[in-house]
Amino acid sequence: MPETQSATTSPAASATPVLALRGISKRFGAVQALTDVDLEVRAGEVVALVGDNGAGKSTLVKTIAGVGPADDGVVEWEGKPVTVDRPHAAQELGIATVYQDLALCDNLDVVGNLFLGREIVRAGVLDEVEMERRARELLSTLSIRIPSVRIPIASLSGGQRQTVAIARSLLGEPKIVILDEPTAALGVEQTAQVLDLVERLRERGLGVILISHNMADVKAVADRVAVLRLGRNNGTFDVRSTSQEEIISAITGATDNAVTRRRDRSAGVSGVPGAVEATGAAEAAPAAPAAQVTGPADAVKAAQAAQDGKEAGKESAPAGEPVDAVDAVEAAEADESAEATPAGKAGKPEVGKPEVGKPEVGKPEVGKPEVGKPEVGKPEKEAGA
Ligand SMILES: Nc1ncnc2c1ncn2[C@@H]1O[C@H](COP(=O)(O)OP(=O)(O)O)[C@@H](O)[C@H]1O
Ligand SMILES: [Mg+2]
Repeated sequence: MPETQSATTSPAASATPVLALRGISKRFGAVQALTDVDLEVRAGEVVALVGDNGAGKSTLVKTIAGVGPADDGVVEWEGKPVTVDRPHAAQELGIATVYQDLALCDNLDVVGNLFLGREIVRAGVLDEVEMERRARELLSTLSIRIPSVRIPIASLSGGQRQTVAIARSLLGEPKIVILDEPTAALGVEQTAQVLDLVERLRERGLGVILISHNMADVKAVADRVAVLRLGRNNGTFDVRSTSQEEIISAITGATDNAVTRRRDRSAGVSGVPGAVEATGAAEAAPAAPAAQVTGPADAVKAAQAAQDGKEAGKESAPAGEPVDAVDAVEAAEADESAEATPAGKAGKPEVGKPEVGKPEVGKPEVGKPEVGKPEVGKPEKEAGA
């Protein structure tokens, strides 16, 4: 596995990280949202933060942004421990966060939004001329094209709004910018605009943390990808030398690598019988031809199918009510891994039937797309199973 840097190895050759998280843990009542999480971001690098729903991405971001400080662990800024206990502390250090909802004011124009909360005032009145001049300058250095800086935000496209929100985050001259799912709601063209902007942030020497569900985006702009799974590190990978399949495996848990092995050793896997079962099944899956993932597109579809399968698993969860989210995910995964192996036999693994490797004709097979059948790789329930 081309895993370049695990959570436990010491920093690589390059400079001191601008931001380093060490052993971050966070609990919400019964839910252990983060356990002993490490993350490093250097100047001029884009680190993708990926993981399934509930993996702890937003919680981790909130600890960095000073919105929900960690219970345990250390935040280091340029090599020194710091306290980030409120948003203002994060901003002062140079951490800017663009949340998914963007927090733009629809009724204000682009200038008004850019300078919201940091208006330029001269002799007691807003200096609209100066703000407009700086707005144009900022947008043009970022090559952001907006029809006019005086039109209301409401009339911009989703991609343009996202770029305005990112531009606004730069006014505080941060060193680290955190983008929470910046392309989640965007079409192809708009996504490209935002990814271009991410590259420009890197060119300006900023460290970027990019939360994303989209492997294509991650592959397109990230230098490294940090995977969270069930609130723990599940590997940090060099994007160029790692396949999408490997990243997806780390996200879904269908993986066996130094990080998981070490974690399982130290945690004593016996505590979670379901997890052992799920891992075994998931490991077996790639050997079965029907479950093989042959290309990036298939990988994404497969991941989607797994996700949908998981949701289906949740809906139909039997009486053994999961006590917390982690259990819910583990339970869903046990279902999911059972579903993933035999082609077209989702949720109905028949014991003793060696269907693996004997895909039934006419059933959807992940990894073997049939021409003219766009539903291949989609959740089986849609295919009428
Ligand atoms: N404010 C909160 N109160 C209780 N549980 C929370 C809260 N925020 C997050 N969680 C739980 O913490 C876990 C991680 O959630 P989150 O960080 O939102 O995951 P992600 O962003 O990766 O989808 C989940 O189990 C979620 O239900
Ligand atoms: Mg989230």
